Amino acid sequence: MSEESGRSTSRREFIKTSGRLAGASALAGVAIPQVYAAGGGETIQLALVGCGGRGTGAADNALSVKNGPIKLVAMADVVDRRLKSSLGSLTKGLADQVDVPAERQFIGLDAYRHAMDSLKPGDVVILGTPPAFRWVHFTYAIAKGLNAFMEKPVTVDGPTSRRMFKLAEEATGKNLKVGVGLMSRHSRALEQLANRVHDGEIGEIILQRGYRMHGPIGAFASLPKPAGISDLMYQIQRFHSFLWAGGGNYSDFYIHIIDHLGWMMNAWPVKAQALGGRHYRQSPEGVTYVDQNLDTYAVEYTYADGTKFNFDGRCMNGCNDIYSSYLHGSKGSAIVSRGGDCGMPSSLHKSQSMQPSDMIWESKVNEGEGDPYQNEWNDLVDAIRNDKPYNEVKRGVEASLVTSMGRMAAHTGQEITFEQILNCEHEFAPGLDKLTPDSPAPVQPEADGRYPVPMPGQKKDREY
Ligand SMILES: NC(=O)c1ccc[n+]([C@@H]2O[C@H](COP(=O)([O-])OP(=O)(O)OC[C@H]3O[C@@H](n4cnc5c(N)ncnc54)[C@H](O)[C@@H]3O)[C@@H](O)[C@H]2O)c1
Repeated sequence: MSEESGRSTSRREFIKTSGRLAGASALAGVAIPQVYAAGGGETIQLALVGCGGRGTGAADNALSVKNGPIKLVAMADVVDRRLKSSLGSLTKGLADQVDVPAERQFIGLDAYRHAMDSLKPGDVVILGTPPAFRWVHFTYAIAKGLNAFMEKPVTVDGPTSRRMFKLAEEATGKNLKVGVGLMSRHSRALEQLANRVHDGEIGEIILQRGYRMHGPIGAFASLPKPAGISDLMYQIQRFHSFLWAGGGNYSDFYIHIIDHLGWMMNAWPVKAQALGGRHYRQSPEGVTYVDQNLDTYAVEYTYADGTKFNFDGRCMNGCNDIYSSYLHGSKGSAIVSRGGDCGMPSSLHKSQSMQPSDMIWESKVNEGEGDPYQNEWNDLVDAIRNDKPYNEVKRGVEASLVTSMGRMAAHTGQEITFEQILNCEHEFAPGLDKLTPDSPAPVQPEADGRYPVPMPGQKKDREY
């Protein structure tokens, strides 16, 4: 199993000419939003910052939107090989819409500025780096008057969350449209389910359950840094392993289920208490891993009305894999995600056992709307072209904070409230806007070469 990149497997044909005509007729008669009108005609230009798996997938989705011409014109990454491989793969399927010559390929920690400088106000930047850089890159996007799509999580700690809330307001003030890659929110199956649950079809929700348990994936575990790469670049490249860069596997892997169960409840949990542990810490060759992650997490979230949401996360081979989410109501139950982060179909059941025989409703999604990663782009571009209010950042920060709240509860062994995580003063990586290749890495190894790990019960105010 691997973290889905969201990259579509079947190439949707996009014919440039017909796209242009469709765009022209779609725009006829509508007031072109000022910010977009300033953006260089009807072709929306894109820049991709962070050309990894998901950034490439998001660019593919962006270029596959059918309501008008859209073109990739600039790319930025800190690793040349990642940019080249992303460009190669996008060009293979979408050559007509990819126009990124060598002079608009930018490498380095300041590459994001050059890529965004290649755009005009009203164009779109895709922020697909590890989340630590989100506020830095979003700040620049707002200054340049760019619409944006940013991947989840959007923050990993309290101080940057507070900063992002302010940036969200600034973006709205400038009428910028901003999408956040919590794609469950654009799953048509989950939309149908949410409407029914909010209408009371299974009564009051009395319990929520979420699971993401599978073997180690991505950079969940890390061996000691090899020679030939700086500590900073090692940590950036293996961001799942380092809390400052990605919030660890907890934030990166578990946010989707936490987000969509909050949606079903129409609220966010107000506190969390949790268990977590590290069990297998040696590679098959017997080398000790150096990352900051725990293997297992069991988090009990509580909503303001006392309703509980239990979340279990595990990265361990050979155990019972479960990757799905459920609601229990006073009049029935629901399967929210049948498999994966938001796997269809969703269903309602008249008992608590969720057997097919007691199913009372199952989601049905129109052809062409089955891919939430594509839907989120269709929705964003529609908002840009038709000047509809669209800014998902506040909600994205809230989902990121609730995720961090559960993680901090496990890492400290304390009950953590929403207010505590929001107002927590521990900024994991201060000064990221001034980072250069020579900057010290935000977390330093201890004498044994391992990076500091959470010490529940001993470190109570900080996660490491
Ligand atoms: N919505 C989803 O289902 C989904 C799925 C996968 C990943 N994601 C999210 O997307 C983001 C990226 O994950 P990924 O799996 O694509 O990782 P990745 O390692 O494949 O890609 C990240 C890319 O960003 C580059 N990068 C890092 N720091 C940079 C910087 N400061 N400036 C420019 N480039 C930089 C890296 O070199 C790499 O090419 C993460 O936030 C992750 O949580 C979301």
